[in-house]
Amino acid sequence: MSTNEDKLKTLIGHAKEYGYVFPSSEIYDGLSATYDYGPYGVELKNNIRRYWWEAMTKLNGNIVGLDAAIFMHPTTWKASGHVDAFNDPLIDNKDSKKRYRADVLLEEHIAKYADKIEKEVEKGRKKFGEAFDEAQFRATNPNVKRAQERIDAVEGRMKAALEANDLVALRQLILDEEIKCPISGTANWTEVRQFNLMFATELGSVSGESSTIYLRPETAQGIFVNFLNVQKSARMKIPFGIAQTGKAFRNEIVARQFIFRMREFEQMEMQFFVKPGTEMEWYNTWKEKRIAWHKALGLPAENYRFHDHIKLAHYANAACDIEFKFPMGFKELEGIHSRTDFDLGNHEKYSGKKLRYFDTETNESYVPYVVETSIGLDRMFLAVLSAAFQVEQLPNGETRDVLRIPAPLAPVKVAVLPLVKKDGLPEKARAIIDTLKLDHNCQYDDKDSIGKRYRRQDAIGTPYCITVDHETLTTDTVTIRERDSMAQERVAISELPRIVGEKVDLRGLLRKL
Ligand code: GAP
Repeated sequence: MSTNEDKLKTLIGHAKEYGYVFPSSEIYDGLSATYDYGPYGVELKNNIRRYWWEAMTKLNGNIVGLDAAIFMHPTTWKASGHVDAFNDPLIDNKDSKKRYRADVLLEEHIAKYADKIEKEVEKGRKKFGEAFDEAQFRATNPNVKRAQERIDAVEGRMKAALEANDLVALRQLILDEEIKCPISGTANWTEVRQFNLMFATELGSVSGESSTIYLRPETAQGIFVNFLNVQKSARMKIPFGIAQTGKAFRNEIVARQFIFRMREFEQMEMQFFVKPGTEMEWYNTWKEKRIAWHKALGLPAENYRFHDHIKLAHYANAACDIEFKFPMGFKELEGIHSRTDFDLGNHEKYSGKKLRYFDTETNESYVPYVVETSIGLDRMFLAVLSAAFQVEQLPNGETRDVLRIPAPLAPVKVAVLPLVKKDGLPEKARAIIDTLKLDHNCQYDDKDSIGKRYRRQDAIGTPYCITVDHETLTTDTVTIRERDSMAQERVAISELPRIVGEKVDLRGLLRKL
């Protein structure tokens, strides 16, 4: 695999062939930026959601769940700021007719300078070996310093332009940096325009009685408007959180890169309500808790980094992303935002209803501040799938496609394979499945050679293959093969629930948190 684009293409091909992700309505040539999850995809998605949900609601006694409707009263989106401010600055290239987000063009341009720095650092590391002092190198190397100065200058101008909503300055920065359209190779750009990302539809069927409502662009607002319902009914005391997973919709103009940026996607959001003045403490706590959740999965630690927002969203006083090294480079996977009392305060204003918390210890009533953690389930799916997918060279010269999905998230935990389709081996294999299937997703497969069956299970990421042979009939033992090492071991059937359970149980992950 050579380029990042090739890597992503290979992954998309694998995801389709092995039942993870299909283009939506493919028989009609698909619908851009919408995807369907196949038989293994839906299992992986459910497992990721469950890992998130249980980490939030089971491990934190002060976090409870909610499932709010997708449609909400239209004033919700006025109060939240989405009607007026949920825009992307767009720019078109007049030659290719392609449309881009102006801020994304600039961020990708900045990323090129950052890449240059990393390459210089790598060169330095090789040159100086053990004596290499990375911090000193970064501070003194002229090439690194030059690139960092460029980054700071571009980021500074971009931040100022975005904050002032100065679209002319944003365009000028693109021109000054000589950023070209990747398709046409020209810098023949239109003006920058703002474009609202919400999907609107009509409520009501009687003419004259309809009104415009929106498909929710984030799940968070369902939590805010239910703040008091939840606090009172579940008798929650501040600090406490409300967790929710569900679909969100955005009319993304630059919808590319597979399931990274979709028009219909799923979010897993948690709003943590705190006493004003304590929000930075909780912001830092949630940064730590969320990165620990990611790292417990055991994907390479160097795939994660924090990135502070250059431009704060209209509701935030601090915000950062956890970025992940996707096949197309480091990109946002999760956002952690300190949202102040912006949302609850505005809902109070627009609804005329009090959304306050009465603190019985201090006898005061206040609008709580909110620290939010927000992760896209589809993006998390892509992170897991892309880190797990490997085309591995085997000692015998062959290759195997393997998905090293963290075992508790794997769609199928165990495949049970009778060596031949006769002599009572299929029946024995099915009996073994019966002992495991209440705890784990199991698959029976008796088609093709055993080698081919192992390859199929590697390709869908099954952590364990159990082979039933003639010896099984007399000794009640089987061969168990582990996906990653391909090591095989003969074990008693009675040992299987323990051996399999130890590695694939979600509780193993939760215990690390
Ligand atoms: N409530 C805050 C909020 O929605 P956001 O940064 O706009 O913040 C949160 O979105 C997360 O939702 C992102 O980090 C990303 O994982 C996911 N997300 C946002 N837009 C997406 C899209 N078009 N397709 C897939 N996932 C998306």
